[in-house]
Amino acid sequence: MKATENNKIKINVNNLSCSYGSLLAVNEVDLKIKANEITAFIGPSGCGKSTVLRALNRMNDTIPSSSVNGSVDIIFNGDQAAINIYNPDIDVISLRRKVGMVFQRPNPFPMSIYENIIYGPKLFGLKDKKQLDEIVEQSLQYSALWDEVKDKLHTSSGQDLSGGQQQRLCIARALAVGPEVLLLDEPCSALDPIATVKIEDLLIELKKYLTIVIVTHNMQQASRISDTTAVFWVNENTKAGELVECKPTIELFSNPQDSRTEGYITGRFG
Ligand SMILES: Nc1ncnc2c1ncn2[C@@H]1O[C@H](COP(=O)(O)OP(=O)(O)OP(=O)(O)O)[C@@H](O)[C@H]1O
Ligand SMILES: [Mg+2]
Repeated sequence: MKATENNKIKINVNNLSCSYGSLLAVNEVDLKIKANEITAFIGPSGCGKSTVLRALNRMNDTIPSSSVNGSVDIIFNGDQAAINIYNPDIDVISLRRKVGMVFQRPNPFPMSIYENIIYGPKLFGLKDKKQLDEIVEQSLQYSALWDEVKDKLHTSSGQDLSGGQQQRLCIARALAVGPEVLLLDEPCSALDPIATVKIEDLLIELKKYLTIVIVTHNMQQASRISDTTAVFWVNENTKAGELVECKPTIELFSNPQDSRTEGYITGRFG
């Protein structure tokens, strides 16, 4: 992976509203996500963090009742102009290759560590054994798992690893197809503090190469690793989630302006 230019806007979310059937889950979100930063989504349960995250690589498409309005414009490497990922002619498979996702529960496939990682590259047509070997080593190096598994790549199932190792394997699997953006939905909520710190360190390292968006309920985690924090909340009247504010994390945590943000980060409510 090549280090990319930072401080540019990578993702521009415009007037995004998301519904499940007749339920308006997220209302009119405008949000800019900077390249090579970690952006954290925080806010109380049900305020739409996962919904907005899934909207960034059209994972919402997999939920039959879901519908989306507005646009999500992403500038992919090598392109001059942003592309609205909701354009009907977008190839969703190749979109998800560029905008990868890691879920709350580690979900390695029931196959060897090696096969877990080459799954994506093989799907995209790569057959050369040497190149596949390289991808496996690189992805595991990037996900800080190589040293722990290099001697059992073929003999151990991905599902036989510890929870923290499984989550790093899932990150490696996402990295193996060369994404530009990595979306993570509470990736550490099933992990112990030591495994959590490993993932946090890894994400800080990875932001040199990628743009990262992470949903977290852990305020310390948001303040430790993110550059920018977006706070979501359920609007009392519409009952839909909306964006309260999106600011540099240091500013947001040291001097919260909105009373909901202040209450939430100090643990008074939410
Ligand atoms: N698959 C679904 N079908 C129907 N409604 C859904 C679905 N997923 C989410 N919702 C609803 O959309 C709203 C936002 O949910 P979402 O999961 O995005 O919130 P969240 O902020 O991620 O919450 P949590 O912190 O509990 O994970 C909630 O009212 C939720 O019940
Ligand atoms: Mg969620």
